[in-house]
Amino acid sequence: MNDGSPEGHTHAELWAETVHGRVAGMRHFGAFSELEIVAPRIAAKAVPGQFVMVTVPGGGFLLRRPLSLFAVRSDRVALLIEARGPGSERLTGLETGDAVDLAGPLGSAFPVSGVASALLVGGGIGCAPLQFLSEELVRAGAQVTAAFGFRDFRAARAAGAFAMERLWVATEDGSVGRRGTVIDILAGLDLPPQTVVYACGPTAMIAAVQRWSLAAGLRGYASLEAHMACGSGSCHGCVVDTARGKLRVCSEGPVFALDEVLP
Ligand SMILES: Cc1cc2nc3c(=O)[nH]c(=O)nc-3n(C[C@H](O)[C@H](O)[C@H](O)COP(=O)(O)OP(=O)(O)OC[C@H]3O[C@@H](n4cnc5c(N)ncnc54)[C@H](O)[C@@H]3O)c2cc1C
Ligand code: FES
Repeated sequence: MNDGSPEGHTHAELWAETVHGRVAGMRHFGAFSELEIVAPRIAAKAVPGQFVMVTVPGGGFLLRRPLSLFAVRSDRVALLIEARGPGSERLTGLETGDAVDLAGPLGSAFPVSGVASALLVGGGIGCAPLQFLSEELVRAGAQVTAAFGFRDFRAARAAGAFAMERLWVATEDGSVGRRGTVIDILAGLDLPPQTVVYACGPTAMIAAVQRWSLAAGLRGYASLEAHMACGSGSCHGCVVDTARGKLRVCSEGPVFALDEVLP
């Protein structure tokens, strides 16, 4: 509903609520780090697939960084971060007790109701939102199978951050699990016909999962990435082409139906 804000944006779109969090812990898994933050108001509202916009502490960073919710535990949210550049590098260097501001939860959610069997497909740091999703699916009674692809041994250590019963791993260099991509795992899986596919990862992986799902007759969802400025719908910096036209990854997404994304 519009509240009279400029250009038809809702108040929520223009001003995502910022909360002052505190680092509760940091664990490192090879190339990835799990940052746990005490943020009760976000933890109370969050659903799988959503993300937060995190202020990089210490100054020098104008824009907040979008990070998926990896897990929600009581009054805490956990983020899984790959240090790709200076902002994420600084976030992975935070220590217990440090202050960190974050806005959220933002964006659309992965639908989970009515799903009996789910296939979670992740590529690299794209695996991040799939732990929270897996927990919600299991809680809703679904059988969950996961297939993750990583580039090498260091990245594959991230699998240690996940608690899933059926998790298959592939690495491009063959150092962990199957040699190849995550798509090579999918071919060997025996899944019920009504399985719902959930994918998050690089664009090329989303495209491959979309082709594979279509051929297998399975429907599903994909979480997309885009460079973001506001993270809450007002700057239109994160627009992508979809079968429904141009949509904002931060507000109409990041979760879209798999058959509507145009990777
Ligand atoms: C909805 C959403 C959820 C995300 N969830 C996670 C997550 O759970 N964990 C995580 O580690 N990262 C996640 N990302 C990506 C993360 O936001 C970027 O890696 C981070 O902002 C980079 O900031 P930086 O200052 O470290 O690097 P920069 O110096 O800004 O960039 C470093 C490199 O990363 C690339 N990059 C920067 N932002 C993005 C982006 N949004 N998408 C793709 N490439 C990017 C740049 O092109 C450059 O090559 C997510 C992005 C989105 C949009
Ligand atoms: S990041 Fe500003 S509209 Fe999406």
